[in-house]
Amino acid sequence: MTYEHISVRPTTGTFGATVSGIDMSQSLDEATLGEVRSAWLEYQVLFFRDQEMTPRQHEDFAANFGELTKAGFMPTLEGTTGVFVQEYPGLYSRDVTDITWHCDAAFLPVPSRGSVLYALDVPEGAGDTVWANMYAAYEDLSASMQSFLSGLTAVNDNAYRNLETLLERLGPEGFAQMRKMLPPSGHPVVRTHPETGRKSLFVSELMTSHIKDMKPEESRMLLDFLFRHSTQPEFQCRFAWEKHSVAFWDNRCTIHKGVFDFGDRHRLMHRVSIDDDRPPV
Ligand code: SIN
Repeated sequence: MTYEHISVRPTTGTFGATVSGIDMSQSLDEATLGEVRSAWLEYQVLFFRDQEMTPRQHEDFAANFGELTKAGFMPTLEGTTGVFVQEYPGLYSRDVTDITWHCDAAFLPVPSRGSVLYALDVPEGAGDTVWANMYAAYEDLSASMQSFLSGLTAVNDNAYRNLETLLERLGPEGFAQMRKMLPPSGHPVVRTHPETGRKSLFVSELMTSHIKDMKPEESRMLLDFLFRHSTQPEFQCRFAWEKHSVAFWDNRCTIHKGVFDFGDRHRLMHRVSIDDDRPPV
């Protein structure tokens, strides 16, 4: 794909690209927006530097790609529809390293389409984010493994791995309320991207508790393999944040993880997510 309105520089051999030539605080013309969309589908995660945006402008950029995710169990920044504040220390009372690889909202019947994360304060030289390319992870499997996985359903559950942390944070009543609002969801282990038609793995360590209709040991063994396989360095892309950097990723073909190597130092991010309009198939 040739880009005429933006400049796109790949960041790894398989995915990720840095985009320059746009001001995200302004509304983008159709041609520029079309190229950002194409680059997003092609590279799966886009990075932008030196963008100064208000929460409203952040929402407006994300709204070009679908309906914004609204406050549900998690509140949004006051006065906004869809700006979620991710601040450390402070977001979680316990160990934030519990937040490992995931796709946003994989536990919902219709998981998130994409997310736009904006850095407002970052610890120098720390607090990167890593993504894994789930197309590449799928395509690297043998044909036999691909066909074995193709009929399987994975159960995605936002509580199974962080049970203790969540109970401590929410208390028994809050926890029960959250379970009622957000029960686990079954999704195909291999999904087909609705826009690119490409197949990818759709499991992650934080969200996927087990594979349906398998014995616990079989499910554990298979998931451990898939988690290790999908997050190997060859399928990864890592971003070192600066103040006013933005990452815009496609949750339908990537998983990600914040690197919590900054101790008690401050890190403040705003995230706006985009709802999808159909369950994964
Ligand atoms: C996230 O896990 O949603 C954000 C990743 C990060 O804070 O680096």
